[in-house]
Amino acid sequence: NDLKHLIVEFKGDKSNIGLIRLNRPKVLNALCDDLMNEVNSVLDRFEKDPSVNCVILTGSDKVFAAGADIKEMKNLDFKQVYKGSFLSHWSRIAKFKKPIIAAVNGFALGGGCELAMMCDIIYAGSKAQFGQPEIILGTIPGAGGTQRLTKTIGKYKTMELVLSGRRMSAQDAEKAGLVCKVFPPEELLNEAIKLAETIASLSPMVVQMAKESINASLELSLNEGLHFEKLLFHQTFATEDRKEGMAAFVEKRPPKFTDQ
Ligand code: HXC
Repeated sequence: NDLKHLIVEFKGDKSNIGLIRLNRPKVLNALCDDLMNEVNSVLDRFEKDPSVNCVILTGSDKVFAAGADIKEMKNLDFKQVYKGSFLSHWSRIAKFKKPIIAAVNGFALGGGCELAMMCDIIYAGSKAQFGQPEIILGTIPGAGGTQRLTKTIGKYKTMELVLSGRRMSAQDAEKAGLVCKVFPPEELLNEAIKLAETIASLSPMVVQMAKESINASLELSLNEGLHFEKLLFHQTFATEDRKEGMAAFVEKRPPKFTDQ
């Protein structure tokens, strides 16, 4: 395990929660190329590993991530970033099939905020701050800050953040629908683990279907989305876990899910 910029652990009573901790403390977890490659390779590993049912992405108590590494980007020119598809490998996380929770304490700025938004659920510590300050650097968000944020908190709040570079508190982010719940900073990780354990106790296959269906809603018209949802709903009837879930309810016992 030769990870330079991440700490990977397994959490929960059943050790079935994969925890990825961003760990470049000297530069506030600036997301350099190497770090993102490491995140991608850990996600590849977690996706294949049947003992991992849910993943948490977090930073330190002070910072989730202060964005892409500005020192790494500083001297690049248009040809290099365009021909080299600069930062295109960032989208891996949005294609991850298992549930992934972002637990955000401190700054989630620029690429840091975008990374959190590529996760499925965002929990935040009460001192977290979200923002897309790229405009201050003379550039714009490049990994979803003008797209996922707009779809999440709407055009007008997104305009305020992206055009001014101002930050949004955890409390405002919760009101706006970006953050699900806010906790005291020291309780954040435990709360994320509790949620992850609940999700991890359910059918991994059916959880994946639910995630796929929700994500499809962002791409499809209502009718297409409803059709897609119905197909997946019908497909749950091809799983053992659906039979088991309903049988357990009727027999008044806890379900034992086995599909992988
Ligand atoms: C490289 C960074 C960095 C970053 C901080 N550091 N953010 N290095 N890239 N994004 C480094 C600083 O240079 C400094 O190094 C050390 O971390 C501590 O940072 P300070 O600024 O001294 O800390 P503080 O005063 O507490 O301010 C915290 C902060 C500020 C408000 C978060 O660091 C900040 O504004 N950072 C940049 C945020 C940003 O603009 N993010 C967007 C990046 S663009 P030294 O060596 O001096 O100690 C982006 C595009 C994404 O993300 C596109 C994706 C496709």
